Amino acid sequence: MKPRKKGDEEEEGHWANSSRKDCSLRLIKIFFRIAVFVAGSVLGLSWGVRLNQHVSQTDIFFPAKLYTNCGKPSLNFNNFIEPCNLMHMMTDKELFWRASMVSKRNEYPFNRVPKVAFLFMTEGPLPLLRLWDRFFKGHEGLFTVYVHAYPGYTLEVPESSFFYDRQIPSEKTKHGLISQVDAEKRLLANALLDFSNERFVLLSESCIPVFNFSTVYKYLTKSAYSFVQSYDENSFQGLGHYNSHLAPEIKLPQWRKGSRWFEIQRSLAVNIVADKKYYFFFREYCKTNCYPDEFYIPTYLNMFHGLSNANRTVTWAGWSIGGHHPATYGREDITESLIRSIRSNGTICTYNSKPSSLCFLFAMKFSPDALEPLLNLTSTVMKF
Ligand SMILES: *[C@@H]1O[C@H](CO)[C@@H](O)[C@H](O)[C@H]1NC(C)=O
Ligand SMILES: *[C@@H]1O[C@H](CO)[C@@H](O)[C@H](O)[C@H]1NC(C)=O
Ligand SMILES: *[C@@H]1O[C@H](CO)[C@@H](O)[C@H](O)[C@H]1NC(C)=O
Ligand SMILES: *[C@@H]1O[C@H](CO)[C@@H](O)[C@H](O)[C@H]1NC(C)=O
Repeated sequence: MKPRKKGDEEEEGHWANSSRKDCSLRLIKIFFRIAVFVAGSVLGLSWGVRLNQHVSQTDIFFPAKLYTNCGKPSLNFNNFIEPCNLMHMMTDKELFWRASMVSKRNEYPFNRVPKVAFLFMTEGPLPLLRLWDRFFKGHEGLFTVYVHAYPGYTLEVPESSFFYDRQIPSEKTKHGLISQVDAEKRLLANALLDFSNERFVLLSESCIPVFNFSTVYKYLTKSAYSFVQSYDENSFQGLGHYNSHLAPEIKLPQWRKGSRWFEIQRSLAVNIVADKKYYFFFREYCKTNCYPDEFYIPTYLNMFHGLSNANRTVTWAGWSIGGHHPATYGREDITESLIRSIRSNGTICTYNSKPSSLCFLFAMKFSPDALEPLLNLTSTVMKF
C-alpha cells in the first residue's frame, strides 16, 4: 500500500464530515460569484471602450508596456536580427545556447550587409578609444562594437562615441585562466545575436588599427579564411603545456598554440560558442603551466576546422625585444617609420591562396600616452 501523509487523512475526514447540503450551497455561491464577475467585466469593458475609442480589447488584456522591448514588440523582426539593447539577463548557458542557433535556410529574409564585430576585452578604460572612434567614423552600418570590461565598471564615453552603450554583461577574468576563454566566448556570443555580424575580431585596450576601415573591412569580408594563429611549437612553450589527461579526446599531435588575438568568420564563431565537450577538457586539464586562452581555440580549430583557418594572426606584436611578453610602445616610440614598418614589415603571407605583403591590420601593444602621437599620424600614415 502507498504510504499516506497525515495531511491527506485530515482532509478526507473534513470532507466526510461536511454534508451534501453544505456542498450544494457552496456550489450555488460560487456560481453566483462567477456570474457577478462576468457581468462586471463585460460592463467594465464596454465602459472602457466607450471612454477611449483607441483602447482595444487586446490592449486591455495584453498591455503593450509589458510586452515591449526598446519601444517595439519583442517579436519585432528587426529587434530579433539586431538586438537594440546589449544588456540582458541571460546566463552564459542561456546565451551560448541562443547564440549558437543557426537557421536551416541559407538565404536571409532581409538585405544583409555583412558587418565586422570589434570585440574589445579590457579591465577598465579604453585609453585609445579616440583613435578607434576616428577609425570607425563614416562607416556606420558596416561594423559593431562590443566591450567586455571588469564587472561593475562603466565606460564613461560621450554619446557621440561608437563605444557608447556597447558594454556587454561581464564576469571577472584572470590572465591565463579559463575565465579568459569564457569572456571570449561571451563576446562572440553577444555579437552572434546580431545576424549581420560576419567577422569577429578580438582586441585589447592596447590594440590599434594600422590601416583604414575600408581596407580592413575589405580584407576581412573578402577572405575565405579565418585568421587564428595556430602552430605546432615543438618546445616547452608549446608541447610542454600538454597534459596527458587530455588524451584520448585531444591527442598530442593535435595540440596547437597561438596568439589570443583572433579574427574569425561567423560559422567558426558559432562552433566555438557551441562547443562544450572540448572546452570541458581545457577547463579541467589545462590549469597548471597551461594557458587555455593560448591553446583552446587554436587546438579546437586545428582538430575540426583547420581548412577554414589561415593559421596566422592579423594582429602584429613586437616580439623583437625578446622575452615572453610583446613589447609595449609609448609616446617616444611612435614614429612614422614604426607604423609604416608594421603596415609592411617585409613579411610575405598568404591571402586567399595568393602571396600578399598586407599581413597585419592591427597592432599591439600601445600605452595610453601613445594616443596623441598616433592621432597625429592617422591622416599621413594610416590614411584615416
Ligand atoms: C584607405 O587606405 C588605402 C590604402 O592604405 C588607400 O588607398 C585609400 O585611399 C584609403 N581610403 C580612404 C577613404 O582614405
Ligand atoms: C591551416 O592548418 C590546417 C591544419 O590545422 C591545414 O589543414 C590548413 O591547410 C592550413 N591552412 C592554410 C591556409 O594553409
Ligand atoms: C613582422 O612581424 C611579425 C609579427 O611580429 C614577425 O613575426 C615577423 O618576423 C616580422 N617580419 C619581419 C621580416 O621582420
Ligand atoms: C602633433 O601634431 C601637432 C601639430 O602638428 C604638434 O604640435 C604636436 O607636437 C604633435 N604631437 C606629437 C605628440 O607628436
